[in-house]
Amino acid sequence: MTNIAVIVGSIREGSYNRALGELAAASLEAQGASVTRVDLATFDLPLYSAALEADAFPPDALKLKALLAAQDGLLFVSPEYNGSLPPLLKNAIDWASRPTGDESLVALTAYRGKAAAVMSASISPFGGLRGLMHLRQILSTIQMLVIPEQVVVPAAHAAFAEDGSLKERLPASLVDMTAGRLIAVAKALAA
Ligand code: FNR
Repeated sequence: MTNIAVIVGSIREGSYNRALGELAAASLEAQGASVTRVDLATFDLPLYSAALEADAFPPDALKLKALLAAQDGLLFVSPEYNGSLPPLLKNAIDWASRPTGDESLVALTAYRGKAAAVMSASISPFGGLRGLMHLRQILSTIQMLVIPEQVVVPAAHAAFAEDGSLKERLPASLVDMTAGRLIAVAKALAA
C-alpha cells in the first residue's frame, strides 16, 4: 500500500484548503492509497530557531518528522499569503527538514527522493498559483520530486457545495488526476 500524507497549510476554521485537502484525501483513498491527514493545529511547533534546536529538539517537531518520514509521498494543500506560502507551513517544512540523532547535516530523511504534489484554494481569481510556484521550489530544494499536475481553486468562497464537493467538474477531475499521478509516482519511487 502506498502511504501518502496530506498536509494542509491552514488551521483556520472553515478553511477552504482543508476542504480541498479532504477531497484530495478521499480521492487518494478511493484510488488505493493509505492516507494520513496532517492537521498542523495538532502540532506544537515553535517558530524555528537554531538556539531552540540546539537546546532540545521540540517533541512535536520530532513527531512531525517521523510521521512524514514514514510516507511514500506528500500532498501539500495550502493557501497563498502575499504571493507565497503561509509561515505556518514553511515552519513545519523547515522543522522536519532538520537532522536529528546521528543523521548527517543534510539528511532530509522526511523528504529526499519522494514524490510530492501541490494544491491551493484561494478567494482570489488566481487560486493561489503564485504560492504554489514558491512551494514547488522549496520542495525541489529539499530533494522531493514534485509532479507537474496540480490543482488551483479560484474564488474558493463560491467553489464548494454544502456537502464539501467542488461545484465545477474541471477542478474536481483535476483533484482525481493529481491524486492518481501522485500515487503512481510515489509507488514507482518507493520500489
Ligand atoms: C491572503 N490571501 C491571499 N490570497 C491570494 O490568492 N493571494 C495572496 O497573495 C493572498 N495574501 C494573503 C495574505 C494574508 C496575510 C492572508 C491572511 C490572506 C487570502 C487567502 O487566500 C484566503 O484568506 C484563503 O481563504 C485562505 O485559505 P484558507 O484558510 O481558507 O484555507
